[in-house]
Amino acid sequence: MAEQQHRIIPLRFENQPHSAIVLRHRGQVYAYLNQCVHMVRRLDCVHDAVFDAQQGHLRCSMHGIVFDPTSGESLSVLCAGERLEPLRVREIDEQIVIVDKRVTAPV
Ligand code: FES
Repeated sequence: MAEQQHRIIPLRFENQPHSAIVLRHRGQVYAYLNQCVHMVRRLDCVHDAVFDAQQGHLRCSMHGIVFDPTSGESLSVLCAGERLEPLRVREIDEQIVIVDKRVTAPV
């Protein structure tokens, strides 16, 4: 995955169908559960352009809360201090693998 790009990945989280946002920012790969802290909505529920590569922020497509891509923390006044749920991820031989134990299998 190239710098400043993201993917939405279907998976099972705690045995429920879900999805993750995986992104690369400043060389590092990060993964978060694709669920906003404001309401129980996917960040990409309105459109899938949830990673603003120019600003370097994640942005929920529903009401526009902005998140730090390195911590998942809300940078907006709305939901200040709340965080997206991080998922453990590793890059092995240029392959990105979600290694979080709560993720049991792809959908
Ligand atoms: S549901 Fe994400 S900002 Fe409101």
